[in-house]
Amino acid sequence: MLDGDMRPNLPQATFVRICYNLWSRMVPLRIGNLTLATPLILAPIAGYCDVSFRLIARACGGVGLAVTDLLSPDACLRETPKTMELAATCEEDSPLSMQLYGGDVRKLCDAARWAEDRGAHVIDINMGCPVDKVTKQDGGSKLLCDPDRTVGMVEQIAKVLKHTPLTAKLRLGWDDTCIVAPALARRLEEAGVQMITIHGRTTEMRFTGEARLDGIAEVVSAVKRIPVIGNGDVKSPQDAKRMFDKTGCAGVMIGRGALSQPWIFRDTWSYLTTGIIPAPPTITEKLNMVRRHFYNLCEWRSERAAVIELRKRISWYSKTMNPCRSLKEPMRTVRDRAHFDEICDRFEAWRTFHDDEVRAGRRPMLSPRDEPIEEMQASG
Ligand SMILES: Cc1cc2nc3c(=O)[nH]c(=O)nc-3n(C[C@H](O)[C@H](O)[C@H](O)COP(=O)(O)O)c2cc1C
Repeated sequence: MLDGDMRPNLPQATFVRICYNLWSRMVPLRIGNLTLATPLILAPIAGYCDVSFRLIARACGGVGLAVTDLLSPDACLRETPKTMELAATCEEDSPLSMQLYGGDVRKLCDAARWAEDRGAHVIDINMGCPVDKVTKQDGGSKLLCDPDRTVGMVEQIAKVLKHTPLTAKLRLGWDDTCIVAPALARRLEEAGVQMITIHGRTTEMRFTGEARLDGIAEVVSAVKRIPVIGNGDVKSPQDAKRMFDKTGCAGVMIGRGALSQPWIFRDTWSYLTTGIIPAPPTITEKLNMVRRHFYNLCEWRSERAAVIELRKRISWYSKTMNPCRSLKEPMRTVRDRAHFDEICDRFEAWRTFHDDEVRAGRRPMLSPRDEPIEEMQASG
């Protein structure tokens, strides 16, 4: 304990919060009976954070928990091929939260048990999705509009689970006239929810504006015992620290920031615990992530799916790989596995040569705009 003279000159509440934050980072995050290795969670991003990608982020380090895309209870219970693909997982993809959506309590109960039997370590209920297809079925952030019904639903789901913790992911409210998250979070805790994730936007905001840290802090203050995870716009270790410091949250969930930097969890955990951000992966290491992602997709889905997915995903990976036109442009029309390997190998050869030249002072670093395609192809 610091004595009065040694305390920094801060308002009492801020001082207490900082001490609590430091202390809470030393204490592992617990969700019911599950203890996470780090308080950093890979967000569910429908169409992006499937097992093929989760394995990439986990291999980089620092991921305490990852979440599947939102799953339809109906489709889970019918075990449709698409949902089996979305729910696919393996031993290295652990611990895993499976997220369900919808407004039909009987189906949600059955699907929660189904997910438990399929090895989910956590079951999450989506209370934040703003997409019409979901809200029109009374799911996603529509659940924020009728708190009594939502709490009743959660009570029933919590009762049918044998041992798996139940969690909920919310937005602040439907719009600024009905900010329900603090009161709802408190009631969900009483109903048996063991962790709340709060995305600091309203449904009406969708993904515009900035995530509101004060809104997240209100949810943190509202619950009694369970951890609250802050979410929204964390794109760097410094953003994550700001989220912890300003809201007092027990953990941070990262979504879009991980798509271009799957190593953000490793960097953030290092920064939070040592103050040091590790050197970024080398171009070869980044390229190996792209390769691994493609091969994972071939294994978990098909070569065709891998081709289609990498055409789309390359622009995310490219954000930290410039100059990389010779990777990005041909990848948009990649045909098959052999063509994929050829594009990666050519780019790696060209880029290694280019970087050696820059290091030796024989040429300046090319900006993406100046990067000549002919040179890239010639160097392959
Ligand atoms: C394309 C897209 C798909 C998403 N899919 C889901 C989803 O399936 N379930 C969910 O709870 N949130 C979903 N989200 C919201 C994210 O999990 C997260 O709350 C949001 O992106 C804010 O975090 P970020 O700024 O770190 O990305 C999705 C977001 C995007 C952009």
